[in-house]
Amino acid sequence: MKRPLVLVLCGGRSAERLVSLVSARCVAASLPAERFRARLVHLGLDGSWASVPTARLLREEPRALLCDPSAVRRLRAGAPRLDPWRLLTSLGDDDCVFPVLHGPMGEDGTLQGMLELSGAAYVGCGVYGSAAAMDKEATKRVAEQAGLPQVPWAVARDAKEAAAAAKRFGYPVFIKPARMGSSVGVVKVKGPAAVAAAMREALRYDDKALVEKGYPVREVETAVLGDPWASEGDRFALKASICAEIAPNAEFYDYTAKYIDPDGARLIIPAPLPARTAARVRELALTAFRALDLYGLARVDFFVHKHTGKVFFNEPNTLPGFTPISMSPRLWRESGIPTPRLVETLVELGLRRARARRRLSADPRAR
Ligand SMILES: Nc1ncnc2c1ncn2[C@@H]1O[C@H](COP(=O)(O)OP(=O)(O)O)[C@@H](O)[C@H]1O
Ligand SMILES: [Mg+2]
Repeated sequence: MKRPLVLVLCGGRSAERLVSLVSARCVAASLPAERFRARLVHLGLDGSWASVPTARLLREEPRALLCDPSAVRRLRAGAPRLDPWRLLTSLGDDDCVFPVLHGPMGEDGTLQGMLELSGAAYVGCGVYGSAAAMDKEATKRVAEQAGLPQVPWAVARDAKEAAAAAKRFGYPVFIKPARMGSSVGVVKVKGPAAVAAAMREALRYDDKALVEKGYPVREVETAVLGDPWASEGDRFALKASICAEIAPNAEFYDYTAKYIDPDGARLIIPAPLPARTAARVRELALTAFRALDLYGLARVDFFVHKHTGKVFFNEPNTLPGFTPISMSPRLWRESGIPTPRLVETLVELGLRRARARRRLSADPRAR
């Protein structure tokens, strides 16, 4: 029998499209070849889809993919363009799509909508979960309803609203675009004089900004894996990995500390936290995952107040980095799940959801 196909989608249009290539390289390399055939599809900045030989991506060094402007050209050289719709609707029931795209137009529910419409099985969160997790206001509203502890926050559409919120919370505050990531557009504001400039920066990326009370915090993350509806004891039951701490060397974990400065932050695994705090973080991560209707995988980020030890939920990432040095694969490796098994489990989860969908009735009269 022919092995099922896993369609690894990479690239895309977001600022993280090059990180996506490094993540996709790791996914393709880790996919157990005895079980699945990997097929790599690159989504270009112009929206076109092209079939790229997997070996071509594996040959590239991660550094070159991130820094060498000709790497994408090398990947796509002579690669045949694909009709996305025909490709997706030609997949068999045992085939699966693995979208390895970070940020808007990949992680935000748009691509997931297309995958849903096509009927293809796919890895990761669905339309609602992806969209809710990408919008910081939506995330916070759902989290609030689920009783998750959060820092005081408000939505602002102009500097006047932002200044009013900041006055209520007290400085410093963080001002950020509602639907971004990678700390793009995030500014720490220490006094009223800096609010207008911070709002201008946030509103470059979105027409809606968030104002949050800034606390002195430690940053703690955990990875979640599974099917939120699987019963306990089931091998797909939802679980959280051990926790990691990120200690940025900058004033906060900004874009430079994340991607530019190799010494921008220290990753500490496991996070040196009291057992009680780590257990609480993992438990809250599962609560957030369920409340936001996430599926398959997510990395869930928290703040721990440096002085009081109080835990605050910050945000989920529904398609976290998947490079060999990325947090999620590392957390799972340290929790006893090697990356090939993680990738295989994610594909199995995608197939499991598609099978469940196919069993749903579309006919109100049929019995
Ligand atoms: N309320 C806050 N208190 C303290 N630090 C914050 C707060 N909000 C954001 N930060 C800092 O800014 C970084 C980016 O903010 P975050 O909300 O996680 O945005 P992104 O989605 O871009 O990652 C955080 O990792 C943290 O370092
Ligand atoms: Mg973040």
